Order: sequence, then structure tokens, then C-alpha cells
Amino acid sequence: MAAALSSKVAVQPAFKAAAARPVARRAPVVAVRAAAVAGEVPDMNKRNIMNLLLLGAVGAPAVGLAGPYALFFVPPSVGGGSGGQVAKDALGNDIKASAWLATHQAGDRSLSQGLKGDATYLIVTEKGEIEKYGLNAVCTHLGCVVPWNKAENKFMCPCHGSQYNAEGKKIRGPAPLSLALAHCDVTDDVVTFSTWTETDFRTGEKPWRVELSGATPHLVQLD
Ligand code: FES
Repeated sequence: MAAALSSKVAVQPAFKAAAARPVARRAPVVAVRAAAVAGEVPDMNKRNIMNLLLLGAVGAPAVGLAGPYALFFVPPSVGGGSGGQVAKDALGNDIKASAWLATHQAGDRSLSQGLKGDATYLIVTEKGEIEKYGLNAVCTHLGCVVPWNKAENKFMCPCHGSQYNAEGKKIRGPAPLSLALAHCDVTDDVVTFSTWTETDFRTGEKPWRVELSGATPHLVQLD
């Protein structure tokens, strides 16, 4: 209590000093007005130039920001003739099969952006072709992205230990299901993904898909 009182006592003189300051600050304002009278205010041409410079300085970054913002509302590209969604690389560029296969070896499983932007493994077959299916990388337990372990030849979830074989089939829980499938097609060199609506060829299970709404994946049977 004594400390609080002493701090109040110490602060009060400072408030008084601050109250006195505005009087002292009025002098420079008068000086500026006097300068204006003396003709030191920029003429109209100078003002216009300054306005244009200001517009350029503010407008260029604004356009730079508005461009990507506007693109956010452009629907993802579709095409390739399969009716699917074009696969994207890590930079958001469409994946061309020829370019991908030039840099990814047989047996490679690398992430791409698949349906709805989900991380999806694009697989290169032992023959050096794009596999006919991709694998949704989201663990069917609680939604971690599952890394491919080349040395172990399987997908191993770091979160709770679920494992999937090279085809994404669950081989160890607690994950309830295998990694979700997506059709993967190449048309005119463009790689596309589309929804897998058939029986899961790895297990014989009825078609299903994963919905990522909320904190955990939601498994939906398709029939
Ligand atoms: S999220 Fe993969 S095992 Fe739990």
C-alpha cells in the first residue's frame, strides 16, 4: 500500500508538466504558417507530381496484394480431358507427366496437391510411368500427414504409429482404414486426380472417402 501511494505521489508532478507542454508546442505551427505565406508551399504541379508518386507507392503494392487475393477465388484448374482436377506441385504449378518423370525415379512416392488441395502421393511405377491411382496422405486415424519411408518401403505415421504398405493399405493401427485412393490420369501430358468411387482394390471394401471437416478426418461410405 505504501509503495502504491508513493508511486502516485511521484506521478502527479509529471502530469502537471505534460499539461503545460501544449503551450510550448504552438510556436512551430506559427512558424509553418509564416513559411506558407512566404511562398514555400509546393505549387499545383508539384502537388500533382507528389500525388502521383504517392498513388504509385501505395497502388503498386495494393495491386500486388490484390492479384493473389483475387486468384484465391478462381476455381482450381480442371482439364486434361478426364474431368478430374489437375495435380499441382509444391509451388502450385500444374504437374506435367514428362517433367515429373524426368526428375522422379521408378518407385518414387512424392507429395502433390490433389483433390480439394489435399496432400496426395503421386506414384511412379517400376516401369517409370505415373501410377493409375494416387494416395491421400492424410492418416485415417487423426489426420496427420503420413511420410513415405523409402528404406522401409511403407508409409509410417509419426503421430501414433499407424503404418501403410506401398499401396497405402493399412498394415498397422490405430488407423481404421487404408490411405484414401484417388484416380490418377495423364491426358496430353497433364496429370489429373479424380474421386475414387469404386471398391477399394486393396481390401475389397466398399467405396469410401475421407472428409477433412473439423479437427479429425471423417470417414464417409459412398454406398
Ligand atoms: S494420426 Fe496417424 S496414427 Fe494417429
